[in-house]
Amino acid sequence: MYIIYKVVILLKKVLITEPIPQAGIDLLKEHFDVTVNTSGHSMTKEEMIREFNKYDGIGTSLLNPIDYDVIESCPNVQIMANFAVGFNNIDIEAAVKRNLIVTNTPDVLSDTTAETAWALLFAVARRIVEADRYVRDGKWQKFSTNLFLGMDVFNKTLGIIGAGNIGRRFAEKARGYHMDILYYNRHRDFEFEKQYNAKYVAFDELLSNSDFVSIHVPLNEETRHLIGAEELALMKDNAILINTSRGPVVDEKALIKALQEKQLYGAGLDVFEDEPHVPEALLQMDNVVLLPHIGSSTKETRERMSLLVAHNLINVLEGKAPVTPVFK
Ligand code: GLV
Repeated sequence: MYIIYKVVILLKKVLITEPIPQAGIDLLKEHFDVTVNTSGHSMTKEEMIREFNKYDGIGTSLLNPIDYDVIESCPNVQIMANFAVGFNNIDIEAAVKRNLIVTNTPDVLSDTTAETAWALLFAVARRIVEADRYVRDGKWQKFSTNLFLGMDVFNKTLGIIGAGNIGRRFAEKARGYHMDILYYNRHRDFEFEKQYNAKYVAFDELLSNSDFVSIHVPLNEETRHLIGAEELALMKDNAILINTSRGPVVDEKALIKALQEKQLYGAGLDVFEDEPHVPEALLQMDNVVLLPHIGSSTKETRERMSLLVAHNLINVLEGKAPVTPVFK
């Protein structure tokens, strides 16, 4: 007589709150029972509080403000794996308090984000977007010696705020443009100086001496409105500000005023204070280039990010150490 045993393997459950590249989802499906929110709408706080505790791990996004209440509502969740290098959407203090592992996606997006900063820098300095619009609008009549006179990038002074992974990659790409590189960081970084021939200067000195200022810091209470009216006033009136970090690092109202008063040459912005809202005043300006937060948005990098999210979830839910924890 044969006895048939039905073996039910209880797979751990993972929720991915926003669609991420399939590579990460496919990998997760080899290990877990995976649910992806493909509804097209981001979960509200109430939905997160209602749903999260049904899962062992969550793949989160910048669109999910994971505050104290959300964290306290889901004791079953062992890990929040954020699909971003920045994790200002997560209350880290609350996560530490309740031993919730939080991971992010550093390194894999550094070059791509640095490239976005360079793309913005060139676009503003050489008036690329404005000139493109001019051609499309059928306004181009003939070659002209003074059409869209821009600003040279080579031989200028580059100011880098933040010498982390993205700041480093950004500095590295300046090679070939023969620029003087100034940097400001919370701590002096001798290796950065040596590697990129960069000079460590005081914050104010960087602002007043740079032709291009690019921001590469995380958003936290120390960096919120790091660049405000006073800092903008220090900048050269032909300087360009590039922000691919987080919108609230720059006081947007002060930036608009500085641009309106011609205190700056222009700005390249991938991030805004209240995304996806972009102030009308910025939309009206020709000397700014505005992107919809696409710093890390290449096919390759977003795929790498999805795999890193998956590896973090797999490691933690299978009892190993996370690959890229944001705190230890
Ligand atoms: C995107 O903004 C990120 O932090 O990865």
